[in-house]
Amino acid sequence: MWRVKPLDAILATAEKKSLTRSLGPIQLTLLGVGAIIGTGIFVLTAEAAQKAGPGMMISFIIAGAVCAVAALCYSELASMVPVAGSAYTYSYAVMGEFIAWMVGWALILEYAVAASAVSVGWSGYFVGLMQSWGITLPHALSVGPYAGGIVNLPALTIALLVTGLLMIGTTESARVNAILVAIKVTALTVFIALTLPVLNGANFEPFAPNGWFGNGNGTGLGIVGAAASIFFAYVGFDAVSTAAEETKNPQRNVPIGLIGSLGICTIFYLLVAAGAIGALGSQPVMGLAGEVLEPGTAALAAQCQSLTAMGQEPLVCSREALAHVLRAVGHERIGDLIGVAAFLALPSVILIMLFGQTRIFFVMSRDGLLPNFLSAIHPKWKTPHVVTAITGVAVAIFAAFLPVGRLADISNSGTLFAFFMVALAVMILRRKQPDRHRPFRTPLVWVVAPLAMLGTLGLYLSLPVQAILVLPVWGAIGLVVYFLYGYRNSHVARGLIETHELDPDAPPEPLAPMPGAPTPGGRDN
Ligand code: ALA
Repeated sequence: MWRVKPLDAILATAEKKSLTRSLGPIQLTLLGVGAIIGTGIFVLTAEAAQKAGPGMMISFIIAGAVCAVAALCYSELASMVPVAGSAYTYSYAVMGEFIAWMVGWALILEYAVAASAVSVGWSGYFVGLMQSWGITLPHALSVGPYAGGIVNLPALTIALLVTGLLMIGTTESARVNAILVAIKVTALTVFIALTLPVLNGANFEPFAPNGWFGNGNGTGLGIVGAAASIFFAYVGFDAVSTAAEETKNPQRNVPIGLIGSLGICTIFYLLVAAGAIGALGSQPVMGLAGEVLEPGTAALAAQCQSLTAMGQEPLVCSREALAHVLRAVGHERIGDLIGVAAFLALPSVILIMLFGQTRIFFVMSRDGLLPNFLSAIHPKWKTPHVVTAITGVAVAIFAAFLPVGRLADISNSGTLFAFFMVALAVMILRRKQPDRHRPFRTPLVWVVAPLAMLGTLGLYLSLPVQAILVLPVWGAIGLVVYFLYGYRNSHVARGLIETHELDPDAPPEPLAPMPGAPTPGGRDN
């Protein structure tokens, strides 16, 4: 189980694929911003406010900083091993099959659960948009049981729709990505421009009603708890690192793309948070006994319902935070337009997350760690349709029944684990193979990588206790699956190292490129 898949074998695979190096720094940054801005800022700002109050501004900085150091580690491995599978593939080469399996297993949490979370976030905006057009969807069909509903039908539907698009081979083109990025950035800019001028300094007091760590009883409250949740808003920058193989001059452009997209998003996020807090206020909603209520609980939903019935809807109660703030400060129509922007742009984030998930499953199945039928390619669509359908249905079911914040927290637990392992892998590889060519080298690696490990561990431990527990439980299930299946069927174990060269069921040609990236050879659809 400690067998590694030699780096040279992985690279041989990559060379056969040989994508054209066509991406420059601006396209890479756009790719990153397209994958990053989504439910995190559009929806979870409300949850961060409930956890930290105005102090959520510091939470955005903490989460952004942890992502920045993790991004630098990611870039080194992505530029050395520019093949599909991201953290899973790096771990296979560096730490062996068992760790790789566990990382791949955790990436399921990252990508699939993130796709569910973004679907639920989209649903909030969809329902609000319908309402502004005079169509009220029944409550029972627009939220899950956690908020007094039965099923979140819009979330379920959008997840299935995006799955269908992916199955028939839709990957968003670079041009569509650029348009969606423009829509998102315009929406955030308009939000900032309309809220900052009406900022009321008094709304920042008290700045940290729940302190740094809340009451410390595992509820994930406080500034650090909010940072662990809002970390979700930054997830997706790894899209840039996975495009390293298609990048011109990766040594220079990959870090520009990564740090550029993270930096731009951090600045936007801070300004948006300041605007939301300053214009409307962001103090947490308390229970009857004066206790802070946890986001995603029936207690908070009930309290919010009674506040709404009394004609007040605080930021923390809104399922469409940014649109709500603008409506509340008198910009009804522009608030609706922000809703339209989220409605249009969030599905592309679901697409990117689902795409990532199916490709990871695909690579794991190609390595023999998951059954072969999963990597079956549709003869006409040229997509891994079986794994896409299975993943999509699971994503839709989670989206139908769970609250957005819980899903985001669960996704974060998987992502933080993967980032931790990537930081560890960078250091191990520097020791084991110091002379190997590194198109991008993490600067100050012996400081940056340990910081990334500490930061990801710290955020993981600051998640609500349920999200913390999901990871070991999910890991235990993964362990059982590995020993029942992967351990015996692994292609590396069976001596089939260059797996898809020897595999009779191998895909006939490379799969579609990542959504938002220009197609190889400069063609754009
Ligand atoms: N960062 C992405 C979002 O916030 C996943 O939706």
